[in-house]
Amino acid sequence: MIPGVDNDSIVYLNGDYVRLGDAKISVLDRGFIFGDGIYEVVPCYGGKPFLMSHHLARLQRSLKAIRLDTGRSLSDWENLVADMLSRTDAQGDCTVYLQVTRGVAKRDHGFPASSQATVFCMVSPLKRPDAHKREHGMTAVSMPDERWLHCEIKSVSLLGNVLAKQYATDAGVDEVVQFRDGQLSEGSSCNIWVVKGGVMRAPVRDHLILEGIRYGFLEQLAARAGIPFESRPITQAEVAAADELMLSSATKEVLPITQYDGQPVGTGKPGPVYTRLRAAYDEAIAAL
Ligand code: PDD
Repeated sequence: MIPGVDNDSIVYLNGDYVRLGDAKISVLDRGFIFGDGIYEVVPCYGGKPFLMSHHLARLQRSLKAIRLDTGRSLSDWENLVADMLSRTDAQGDCTVYLQVTRGVAKRDHGFPASSQATVFCMVSPLKRPDAHKREHGMTAVSMPDERWLHCEIKSVSLLGNVLAKQYATDAGVDEVVQFRDGQLSEGSSCNIWVVKGGVMRAPVRDHLILEGIRYGFLEQLAARAGIPFESRPITQAEVAAADELMLSSATKEVLPITQYDGQPVGTGKPGPVYTRLRAAYDEAIAAL
C-alpha cells in the first residue's frame, strides 16, 4: 500500500530520509526565490518504475540545459528512486517526484559562485485514469501559448503552465490545447496528438514543447500497431478538423479528447487509434 502524502510520509531531502513534516529548506533556496530548478515525474505500477531510464535521461538533460552539475550519475538517480520505493513500501501505483534546484544562496540572479544543489524526492499515490475518462474522454479548449521559449526543459518555473491549467478549469473543461503563432504546441502538462485519415501526428520535438517520455513511447506503440506517425507542424485548423485528439502524460497515460472548443471531436467518442494505443499501453504496464 502507498500511503497518501501526509506529514508522516517519508521523503528524501539532501541525503536524508525524513518525515515530510520535518523536511525543511531555506527560504533562500533558488527554487523558491527564482524557480531555478528542474523536476521529473516517474510513474510506477505495482511498485515498479515505468520507462525510468528515459525519465532519468531527461532529468540529466534538463540539468545540463540549466548548467547545474550535481555530480550524480544516472545510476545514482536510479538508486535514489529504488531506495525511495523500498522505504515507502510502494506496492501499488505511484509516482516518484524528483526535484533539483541550484540550492541556497544570497539572492542574486547570476549563478552563485558555490552552492550545493537541493535534491528532493517524494512518492505519491497514482490514480490511474478511470473507466469514465477512458470511455468518455476529456474535454479541452484552445488558447494561445504564452510560455517562455525553453519548454523542452522540465523546469519548476511552471507559472505559464499553472495559468494555462487554470484557464481550463475556469472554462469548465479538463485541459487546454495551446497554440504558438497558429501552430499546435501542447497541453498545460501533457502532449497532444492529432489523428486524421488514420495518420497520427504530433508537433516536432523542439524548444516549444516538452518532449514527453510518452512521445517516444506512443510513437513506438503506433509503429508496432501499424499506425502511420508523422512529426510536423500542425495548424489550429488541423486540430479543429481532427478525427481524433489525444493527450498523454506520466499521470494521464494516454486519453482521448472527445470535446474540443465546445464541439465533438470526430464522432464525439474515443476513436480507433486511441483504442489500439490504449490497449497496447495497458499491455505494456501489465508486462512490467
Ligand atoms: N507533466 N508537456 C508538459 C508541459 C508536461 O508538464 C508533461 C508532463 C508532458 C508529458 O510528459 P511525460 O509523458 O514525460 O509525462 C508534456 C508531468 C506529468 C507533471 O508536470 O506532473
